Amino acid sequence: MTRPTLIRRISDLRAALSAPRREGQSIGLVPTMGYLHRGHMALVDRARGENGIVVVSIFVNPTQFGPNEDLDIYPRDLDGDLKLCAAHGVDIVFAPEVDDMYPEPMATTIDVAPLSTILIGAQRPGHFQGVATVVAKLFNIVQPTRAYFGEKDFQQLTVVRRMVRDLSFDIAIVGVPTVREADGLAASSRNARLSPADRHAATVVSRALDLAEALVAGGERDSDKVADAVRQMIAGEKRAGTPTVDLREAGTLSEVGMIGETPVVVLVTVPLGGVLLLDQREIHGAAGANQARRTA
Ligand code: PAF
Repeated sequence: MTRPTLIRRISDLRAALSAPRREGQSIGLVPTMGYLHRGHMALVDRARGENGIVVVSIFVNPTQFGPNEDLDIYPRDLDGDLKLCAAHGVDIVFAPEVDDMYPEPMATTIDVAPLSTILIGAQRPGHFQGVATVVAKLFNIVQPTRAYFGEKDFQQLTVVRRMVRDLSFDIAIVGVPTVREADGLAASSRNARLSPADRHAATVVSRALDLAEALVAGGERDSDKVADAVRQMIAGEKRAGTPTVDLREAGTLSEVGMIGETPVVVLVTVPLGGVLLLDQREIHGAAGANQARRTA
């Protein structure tokens, strides 16, 4: 098990990647904010299988946090992250300082409107502008062949895909299915902040998504009814705050009335135990399609 090379400066990363790039090696980038868990490692494993060089970036990006958000208490553990990266065959961990990424206040912002202002973007103004801008910077710094993002952050993945199309980045964006704990909870760095009781209560989210899937499989096509059922189930968990539940077209995040042949994504955010839990499930109105996807 070789430890990955830890690189802290943009210029050093560019220098380290120039030889592999000249040799024609493909570069896979997994952008993260660190405190790596099984969900991240699924992205890394996929990148490892598909690229000559794997770069994991670890950067807690201040511009995607609002003034009252959890930037200061965002969990960090570079040493643990390096060990995990070593175990999963990562070549380079790029962990830049804020001053190197943002030597002066940014005059340029990427706004993938309206994808960045709806749903979570409406609850967290400026968040997706911060994400799109730092991801664009990372793409320009690393110039990867492929970049890997989790489907759990479905809106983020959609924003990045759209940015890449609009700005003609020559990068393949790979969406990787959500990794779940044995009880269904989607893996997330924020789970570490849940008390045991809240951690147990948090399983209501994936159970509510199971319910959405079962309702559609049973013939329900009215997206409002499915969303109401999900909301009610989560409201039945007294530790959970008020959930936001939306059914949207999976490709565009546009609103859906009746669920048809086009895949639909159920997007849930729930405040619970001081953490905003996020989860999603893609479902399909076509008979048998959900079952086929689960067994694929
Ligand atoms: O998903 C994350 O961890 C972050 O939003 C990302 C993509 C690394 C950008 O800071």
